[in-house]
Amino acid sequence: MPPTMDVLVSLAKRRGFVFQSSEIYGGTGSCWDYGPLGVELKNNVKRVWWRDFVQQRADMVGLDASILMHPMVWKASGHLDHFSDPMVDCRECRHRFRADHVDAVPWTHYCPATKENRFTIPAGEPCRHCGARRTLCPDCGKGALTEPRPFHLMFKTFMGSVEDSAAVTYLRPETAQAMFVNFDNVLQSMRLKLPFGIAQVGRSFRNEITPGNFIFRTREFEQMEIEFFVNPSDTVDGRPADEYWHDRWIEDCLAWFRRYGLRDEALRLREHDKDELSHYSKRTVDIEYEFPIGWSELMGIANRTDFDLRQHAQHSGKALTYFDEERRQHVTPYVVEPAAGVDRALLAFMADAYREEVVRGEKRVVLRFHPELAPVKVAVLPLLKKREDIVRTAHAIRADLARHWRVVYDDTAAIGRLYRRQDEVGTPYCVTVDVQTVGDAGKAERGDGRVTIRDRDSMEQIRVPIDEVVGVFTRLIAGEAWSQVAAGRGATGDPPEAAG
Ligand code: GAP
Repeated sequence: MPPTMDVLVSLAKRRGFVFQSSEIYGGTGSCWDYGPLGVELKNNVKRVWWRDFVQQRADMVGLDASILMHPMVWKASGHLDHFSDPMVDCRECRHRFRADHVDAVPWTHYCPATKENRFTIPAGEPCRHCGARRTLCPDCGKGALTEPRPFHLMFKTFMGSVEDSAAVTYLRPETAQAMFVNFDNVLQSMRLKLPFGIAQVGRSFRNEITPGNFIFRTREFEQMEIEFFVNPSDTVDGRPADEYWHDRWIEDCLAWFRRYGLRDEALRLREHDKDELSHYSKRTVDIEYEFPIGWSELMGIANRTDFDLRQHAQHSGKALTYFDEERRQHVTPYVVEPAAGVDRALLAFMADAYREEVVRGEKRVVLRFHPELAPVKVAVLPLLKKREDIVRTAHAIRADLARHWRVVYDDTAAIGRLYRRQDEVGTPYCVTVDVQTVGDAGKAERGDGRVTIRDRDSMEQIRVPIDEVVGVFTRLIAGEAWSQVAAGRGATGDPPEAAG
C-alpha cells in the first residue's frame, strides 16, 4: 500500500529529512527545510541528474545564473503580462483559493436535510444527505466566492537602496530564462554546434495562491531545467528536428525516473490540450506520478519553439541566432525544455521507496531507495559497544568508507534496532563488526578480520574481509546486483540480525 502524505510528513520530520520552516515560530505554511538526511537525498537527486544529463553527454553544458535578473527579462518572457493564476476570495472568511483548485479540496457543508449539521465532504463529491454540491467557500462553508481574477505569481522586490518603481525587480519564477539570455555567451565561449543543451539547477520562487501538500507545491523550490536548442531547418529520421528531440527527451526523462526506482505503474504521460498550452508552447507533455494526493505533474517537457530567443532578441536588441554553415544562413533555434522540480522528484522517490513489511512477526518500515539516492550509503555498527577493539575497528572502517560515501557509525542501541533504524531511512547496507572480526585477546583467540555486510532489501548477510569492503561497496553502489556480489561469499551462520 502506498503511504499517505501524513505518514511521509511524519517520517520525514522524525528521521531528519524535512522540517517545517521556522517551526518554533509556528511555521510558514509553505516553506520547508531539508534536515541532515534530506539534504543528502536532495544533493544525490541533483548530482545523479547532473551526471546523467550533463556530465555524460557531449551535447550538454551547464550554467549557474543569478536569481535576480534584469526586470526586462520578465517583460520579454511574457511573465509580467501572463504569469498569473485565477484567484477567488471568500466574502466571509476572506480565505483565498485558486479558482481551478477550489473543487480539489474537501469542503465544509451545513446540511439543510440534517438540521444544518456541519459535515466535511471529500473533494468533488456531493453531500450524501441532501445531494448538494459545493457552491460556497470550502473552508467556512458560509461565504460566497468572488468572481475569479488574475493573481500575479512573481515575488516582487527592490534592487538597491531606493524603493521606487525604477528599482523593482523579481525573484525568478523559473530557471529557464537565464539559459535564453545567456544563449550567445554560451554558444560563443564553448564553440558549440546545434543541437546542444544548457542545463541549470537552482531555486525558483512563485507566490502560489494555494501552496500545500508538503513539498509538492511550495513558494520557494528548486528546479532542474534543460533548454535543448535545435536547428528548425534540420530533420532527423524524416521528422522536423524539434519534434524528434521532443519525443527523445520525453523518453529519456521517463527512463531516468524509472532507473532511479519509480515504479512503471505509478508513472504516465499526459499530453496538454491545445487550450491548456502555455503561450510559448507548440506541444507540452507532462510526466505524471501517482503521488499520495493522486496523479499529479512530476515534470513537464515543452516544445517552446523559437519564442524565447526571438522575444529576448527583440527586447534587448541583440541577435540571438546561430549561423548554419551548411545553409549559409542565420537561424533562430527551436527549444525543447525538460523542466523538473527537485522537491517533487524527491517526494516521488520517497513515496515510491516506502514499504511496510512484517519480519518475524514485527513491522519493518523500509525506504527502498536506489543506492545512488540513499542519503547514507553504509552504516557501520559495532555488535558490542563495550569492547574497545570492536569499537576501534568499526570507527576505522567508517573513516575508510567515508572517503568515498556518506557513512555513519551508530552504537546507541542493540543491533536489531540499529538495523531497523537504518531500514527506515533507506540505508542500503550495514557493516557489523563482531567478536569474530577482532578475536578475543583474553582467550588468545585471533580474529578472522572479516565483517558482516547486510543488504537492506533482502536482509541477507555475507562475510567479507575488511580490506575488500571498499571494493564490495564500489560494485554495489554502482548498481551491481546483491546476488551477484554475494555469490560465492559465505553467509553468516548466526546472523547479527537475530541478536537484536
Ligand atoms: N520553465 C518551465 C517551467 O518552469 P513548470 O511546469 O512551471 O515549467 C517545472 O515547472 C517543474 O517545476 C514542475 O513540473 C514541478 O516539478 C516544479 N514546480 C513548479 N512549481 C512548483 C512549486 N510551486 N513547488 C514545487 N515545485 C514546483
